[in-house]
Amino acid sequence: MIIGILNSGGDCPGINAVIEGYVAAAYSRGWRVIGFHDGFEGLLPVDGGRRYEVLNLNKTHKIRSIGGTILGTTNTGNFNVHMNKVGRYSISPDIMAKAKKTITALGLQALTVIGGGGSAKTAKLLSEEGLPVISIPKTINNDLCSASDYTFGFQSAVEVVSESIDRIRTTANAHQRIMVIEVMGDLSGWIALHSGISSSADVVLIPEIEFDLQNVVDCVKQRKATGQREIIVVVAEGCRLNGDIITIHNKDKGDERLGGIGNRLCHLLEEMTGIETRYCVLGHTQRGGSPCAFDRILGVRFGVEAVKLIERKEFGTSVVLKGPKVGTVSIDEAVAKPRFVQPDSQIVQTARDLGIIFGDCPPKPAATAAAETAPAQAPAKATKCKKKSKA
Ligand code: F6P
Repeated sequence: MIIGILNSGGDCPGINAVIEGYVAAAYSRGWRVIGFHDGFEGLLPVDGGRRYEVLNLNKTHKIRSIGGTILGTTNTGNFNVHMNKVGRYSISPDIMAKAKKTITALGLQALTVIGGGGSAKTAKLLSEEGLPVISIPKTINNDLCSASDYTFGFQSAVEVVSESIDRIRTTANAHQRIMVIEVMGDLSGWIALHSGISSSADVVLIPEIEFDLQNVVDCVKQRKATGQREIIVVVAEGCRLNGDIITIHNKDKGDERLGGIGNRLCHLLEEMTGIETRYCVLGHTQRGGSPCAFDRILGVRFGVEAVKLIERKEFGTSVVLKGPKVGTVSIDEAVAKPRFVQPDSQIVQTARDLGIIFGDCPPKPAATAAAETAPAQAPAKATKCKKKSKA
């Protein structure tokens, strides 16, 4: 058997672990593996030159701890899916034909695509063309595929953010400042929520819970009034501020990316509280560096499982993590429903019980909060959180 593998879209820690697991499982079956360079672009020869390499055990041994991807990647290029006139995703027929030609010429019996939402949609299109495709979900955002408990890369990003906030806290404390930390996540709040809990943030703002800035201001003032020196506000890049998504616009390239809410929020908070405020955009540090142990293990498991799916000829499928097991769903199901934080979920409730403010309801007065946590006293009634209308 000769099988292929590529990764497409933004990189994330753990891709090399998937590649290592995939190659190891393939070679143990006596198969050969071809790795395509720079995403789906590797399927398109340039000036007759190849854009792939044979991946052997020497090249992939012990790469599971290395960040990035040995194959390179891109989140632009010829394979970006577009919605066509009848509301279906498509890529140019010419590009599709060239990709098919490469796959046939190499005699590939399977192609595994490691990718986020857009790449999985491209994988689905290739699969609909009759190509034997397997998909592996990756993203630090953890927002892909409601069928999977986690995507690899997410836990590593949470580690980076948590450690960064721990560092930011000491300088915030020294200066008695508010620090606003902008984190990635696209339109989901998983990174903000998990890192906010792990690093004891005061305020966590996520796209799934609409916030009222006045509630955040009230919370900051209340906590300051109790003598708290530093205030930590974690904001997800995809949050709306007074109804608007904040983006960075690259006029020359005509592309628009999420980003900038940390800066805006910083100035507003300083103005409304009168407290010195700074912001920090953690940006691509969240995607870089070595994967944490969880992501290394999940990565190699996904890679090995993909080979088993090929062995059983279960094409058009995606690996997923369900509880303790790596399972399978159709690519259709994998791309159908993104994963968002549920505002009424247990983890959000836990964060609220820890005193984290989401800005959707007025903060409880410190005395009430203290009474609720004091062990010897009768439990006080929790303030009911009413959803506010848009500012
Ligand atoms: O990988 C997903 C993501 O990290 C988003 O959270 C973020 O908005 C985007 O990628 C940034 O991508 P780029 O590499 O194009 O800057």
